[in-house]
Amino acid sequence: MRIRLRYYNMKKAIIVGASSGIGKEFAKVLVTNGYKVGITGRREDLLREIKNENPERYLIKSFDISIPFKNSVYLDELVSELGGLDLLVISSGTGNPNEYLDFAIEKLTLDTNVYGITEIADWGFNYFRNQGHGHLAVITSVAGMRGGRFATVYAASKAYQINYFEGLRQKAKKLKIPFYVTDIRPGFVDTAMAKSDYKFWVCSPQVAAKQIYKKLLKKKKIAYITNRWILIAYIMKLLPKWIYDRI
Ligand SMILES: NC(=O)c1ccc[n+]([C@@H]2O[C@H](COP(=O)([O-])OP(=O)(O)OC[C@H]3O[C@@H](n4cnc5c(N)ncnc54)[C@H](OP(=O)(O)O)[C@@H]3O)[C@@H](O)[C@H]2O)c1
Repeated sequence: MRIRLRYYNMKKAIIVGASSGIGKEFAKVLVTNGYKVGITGRREDLLREIKNENPERYLIKSFDISIPFKNSVYLDELVSELGGLDLLVISSGTGNPNEYLDFAIEKLTLDTNVYGITEIADWGFNYFRNQGHGHLAVITSVAGMRGGRFATVYAASKAYQINYFEGLRQKAKKLKIPFYVTDIRPGFVDTAMAKSDYKFWVCSPQVAAKQIYKKLLKKKKIAYITNRWILIAYIMKLLPKWIYDRI
């Protein structure tokens, strides 16, 4: 009975996109800090490996977020298996350099980073609004601060996420309930997603995860990972077009 009560009182989180990289390491940080965590991704074998490390603390749900109108169904199932939700972190994302602008590559990025993320965030927003409290976070990118010629649609999709979450944060504030919205903006993190040939200030996903946890505890509106990426973000914003266009 006592054990059951302990699990009932435990904080609950879902991380969408936790089969690898930042999401996976962040799930581990949450478990270390007493959370029960629902983790998702398409690669079910990887999700199972994570669950096997601590079967009582992880629940898994395998689905592809780019398939429309299914995300809410899977999230409803996961949240009822978890028995509640305090924190939803959206880490899923994709993006590839696309020199010759192949629309098939662009579409995959848009279906995932724009449509998929929107459906999930809408679901999370409504869940927390109805519940009267919660914390919704997304991993965007410093790449979303300006257009970028290396992965044009990836940068644009991250700009969409930044603006969309700003709108959600405004909307949450108006509700006057303890509902927080955080936009996490990494620079370079050493994962499969970091495909640039010009990487610098790269941090490990473990370091990123620990920093994200600290920022979420402080209920930050925007969190640069690592902190010094705030400098690059400001430079990117302030750089005049005539210089930016030559980079
Ligand atoms: N690494 C960096 O330098 C960096 C910098 C800035 C921002 N970010 C952002 O950080 C987030 C996490 O990326 P990461 O660096 O941790 O890379 P990662 O290891 O490749 O992780 C990406 C995660 O997204 C999931 N995912 C991708 N497409 C999906 C889909 N269609 N359906 C469901 N899940 C999907 C993957 O799971 P499955 O493949 O199993 O589905 C995986 O768990 C991304 O949004 C990325 O844009 C990364």
